[in-house]
Amino acid sequence: MKVILVIMFTFVVCNASFIELITPIPKDIKYDRQKALLGKKLFSDPILSRDNSISCQSCHNLSNGGSDNKQFSTGIDSKVGNLNSPTVFNAIFNLSQFWSGKAKDLKEQAHMVLFNPSEMDVNEKELIQKLNKDPEYSAEFKIIYMDAVTLDNVIDAVVEFEKALITPNSKFDKYLRGEMDSLNKNEKKGYELFKSYGCISCHNGVNIGGNLYQKFGVMKQYPDFTNQLGRFNATGKEEDKYHFKVPSLRNIALTAPYLHNGSVKTLKSAIEKMIIYQVGRIPNKEDIQKIEAFLNTLTGDKPRILKDL
Ligand code: HEC
Ligand code: HEC
Repeated sequence: MKVILVIMFTFVVCNASFIELITPIPKDIKYDRQKALLGKKLFSDPILSRDNSISCQSCHNLSNGGSDNKQFSTGIDSKVGNLNSPTVFNAIFNLSQFWSGKAKDLKEQAHMVLFNPSEMDVNEKELIQKLNKDPEYSAEFKIIYMDAVTLDNVIDAVVEFEKALITPNSKFDKYLRGEMDSLNKNEKKGYELFKSYGCISCHNGVNIGGNLYQKFGVMKQYPDFTNQLGRFNATGKEEDKYHFKVPSLRNIALTAPYLHNGSVKTLKSAIEKMIIYQVGRIPNKEDIQKIEAFLNTLTGDKPRILKDL
């Protein structure tokens, strides 16, 4: 009897803790609407780049999954980078920003991308001048901020907009909230496999990722890093080589290609790579298909702020 109770207890606790490992995206989040609407305008305005050629939107397409669906993004002067652009959707929930986690929050992230010579390459003085010259921006900043156009205020507005970029109500979130029928049998089986393969040990929390750093190639050395050292670039610590912020799997169906180097074109192939290099098992087609069906349920509603105006 005692043994049976212990087994039952362990079973219940294990299963319960797995369920709690992923939480739904909140339906709402607090942000300052006026600032966010200003940030929305700035986000897709090339005025934020030195030569007015690119905006945040060029590399983070908000009408799709918040990334650019290219292997590498193209910055100012047609400079091609060496990292795949992650989605800006739900980025507010990540423990840090960038693949290496080198920015501690969205504010630091925005600062870095604005001044990066291969991305937007702005000069603070010029940027302020340009915005002040624009009658709409200059008036809007004055209404919202006591000190009108400043670099801090530009970043503050963009960050406020990014806070609003959450994608609630995916089929899986509805399931987590108790609508058991929102997943079909195949998708439920995929979720079971996601847990039993141990994917959930790295991809968990509200973003199903984004809350820890892990080595890529824990179970088997990954052969193709295109010289990217990952978290090592942020910390300089030997043990952080080839570690990356575990990416969020929210809206993953919309953000191909995959991995930090954009080297993997399909979601199926990304799952296969994970099974080989992160789980250390031999992939089989049926399981991959089911896990993919589960991952496809992680696409949420478009952020409400994108429908406004
Ligand atoms: C030239 C293309 C390009 C432009 C322009 C650009 N980004 Fe990015 N963005 C990227 C790439 C590539 C990364 C990943 C770089 C890395 O990890 O080091 C990234 C990362 C991010 C992240 C981190 C997401 C995460 O999960 O770690 C956020 C947030 C972000 N960008 C927001 C912005 C905002 C806001 C702007 C405009 C001010 C902007 N980006 C402009 C290409 C771009
Ligand atoms: C040991 C931790 C760990 C485990 C276990 C793990 N992953 Fe990952 N996953 C990562 C890391 C780290 C990356 C980023 C690797 C890179 O880009 O180089 C990643 C990337 C991904 C990507 C690509 C995301 C993107 O935006 O490019 C998908 C999809 C994915 N994992 C799904 C899975 C699935 C499905 C499983 C289980 C079969 C799994 N992962 C198991 C850590 C893990």
